[in-house]
Amino acid sequence: MQITNLEEYAKTYRESVENPEEFWAKVASQFTWREKWEKVLDYNFSDYYSKWFINGKLNITENCLDRHLETKKDKEAIIWVANDPNEEDRRITYGELHQKVCEFAGVLKNHNVEKGDRICLYMPMVPELVIAVLACARIGAIHSVVFAGFSSNALASRIQDANAKVIITADGAFRGNKIIPLKAWVNDALDSCPGVESCIVLKRTQEEAEMKEGRDYWWEDEIKNAKPLFDAEVMDSEDPLFILYTSGSTGKPKGVLHSCGGYMVYTWYSFLNVFQYQEKDIYWCTADIGWITGHSYIVYGPLLAGATSVMFEGVPTYPDAGRFWKIVDRLGVNIFYTAPTAIRALMAKGLEYVNLYQLDSLKVLGTVGEPINSEAWHWYHTHIGKDRCPIVDTWWQTETGGIMISPLAGITPTKPTYATLPLPGIQPALVDNKGNEIQGNSVEGNLSIKFPWPSMIRTTYGDHERCKNTYFSTFKGYYFTGDGCKRDEEGYYRILGRVDDVINVSGHRLGTAEVENAINLHSSVIESAVVGYPHEIKGQGIYAFVICDLHKLENTSFEEVKKEIRDKVSEVIGAIAKPDKIQIVKGLPKTRSGKIMRRILRKIAEGDTTNLGDISTLLDPSIVESIKEGRISN
Ligand code: PRX
Repeated sequence: MQITNLEEYAKTYRESVENPEEFWAKVASQFTWREKWEKVLDYNFSDYYSKWFINGKLNITENCLDRHLETKKDKEAIIWVANDPNEEDRRITYGELHQKVCEFAGVLKNHNVEKGDRICLYMPMVPELVIAVLACARIGAIHSVVFAGFSSNALASRIQDANAKVIITADGAFRGNKIIPLKAWVNDALDSCPGVESCIVLKRTQEEAEMKEGRDYWWEDEIKNAKPLFDAEVMDSEDPLFILYTSGSTGKPKGVLHSCGGYMVYTWYSFLNVFQYQEKDIYWCTADIGWITGHSYIVYGPLLAGATSVMFEGVPTYPDAGRFWKIVDRLGVNIFYTAPTAIRALMAKGLEYVNLYQLDSLKVLGTVGEPINSEAWHWYHTHIGKDRCPIVDTWWQTETGGIMISPLAGITPTKPTYATLPLPGIQPALVDNKGNEIQGNSVEGNLSIKFPWPSMIRTTYGDHERCKNTYFSTFKGYYFTGDGCKRDEEGYYRILGRVDDVINVSGHRLGTAEVENAINLHSSVIESAVVGYPHEIKGQGIYAFVICDLHKLENTSFEEVKKEIRDKVSEVIGAIAKPDKIQIVKGLPKTRSGKIMRRILRKIAEGDTTNLGDISTLLDPSIVESIKEGRISN
């Protein structure tokens, strides 16, 4: 199923559009199904649903593990690299991974976990996270992985929304030179989550961790007490596989739900084709499993393909900015997939950290999560890829489940800063603000998708109306991505960034309303407005305009209150959402109907104050001058 040349791409693409069901049936037939599907696709974009491989029965872990046992039992599935460069790697073969997943499935059964129950995972980047994810899938429980950088408040709201029965965590997590006290944060979260029956705790940092009798259990003890469960639950193709929370333009993150069959088919197909994975390759995606990239391209895609996937616990700059490249040389990594933010951060540290390494094992480079600027693209291409490795700039989203627009490494052309062409089966469209599709090339519009694909979002957990409203109501008949996009004279797509109230900080998606809600919880804050602005390393930074109650501040200086506001955001969401700049303002630019004109704030934050457009509709146009004067420039 791997496309091997440009003509084949063009032909496959054409076929996939002309006859999608036949195309996807061919891809799906590469898997082990307990029962074959009866119909490939049923969908409706007006009253949204999309069902794939209808009445097919399977278990995704049988396809990730069992089916490889005959030929790849001793092949390494995971090579794990610790945060501490002196700690030994862990190498886990397909045979071992299968055994460990079945053991942990037995643990979950002992904790009365049934098919359909929600399990929350809040863990460091260690192999046990993969084991726990797969064990959930094995018994049909729905995993909800929460990035371990989120605060206990954010964790609690995700546990509550999914009504999770069990939480799996660790005593702590190593990240660079920091230790994150995960269990302490979980304890705080669980105070407001009475529905959680068990908490299983892995020992990783040997932190003191308070354990609650009758609720908390050590992973290591539970494994000893459980019998491995080898039988996998038979799942319907459309049964839920996981929930992953992501931010949107409203304050509350939504639980994007993916289902078993379609997600399996698409993550495998996209992994094989985008990265052009070959049997002996060592593949490394540096994402965290707390995000969709880790789900699809550390865990499921690579394991479905029987690949060797590197998993890294640490950060790119610890103990120094050569860490990635050292690991690439040491393990002989062939395919390397990371975020533009990491590239920019390492670029800023200078070439001395790169030049110590050969990097000659690399064949393919990838980026994901945010637009890559030209300078970073060329640096990556020249200094890491030595002008030899194609860069796959992969555009996709939590909701799409897998890569949608991207070069196929070495097969289709690359173009700096362009995600280029859609994968087979993906039908993008640029739509104008009235909902009409824009035809032809050299055009710009709202990036939408006009036909379903197997790994698309099925619903937002517990609130299907929200799913319909968010993705299917803006432009009738289309899935709307929230991104602006250009199609150039050659028909290549270039993502221009979000057109909604979502900001992308270091490749992490945050809703402006979510950050504002957190800021507003500070007792001296009356109102706030948050916008993104271009940031050299993070892509976008967070600029907050805040109105404070000056009476309440009394003896507190502005600097102190700004620090408190940052701490508040850390506490409510997590450190990733801390505003980079906070400007205390007297008022916000509002229309007479009370709507904040973010366009104006965005321009001021960007430093582009010469042409703010028409401000005559504002309730108090003079407020704009005072905000401009107080602008924080660096
Ligand atoms: O704005 C796009 C940006 O990231 C958003 C999706 O974020 P998330 O669901 O967190 O998933 C990130 C990892 C898949 C998109 O709406 N984005 C993602 N990839 C790219 C990108 N922007 C430009 N170029 C990309 N390659």
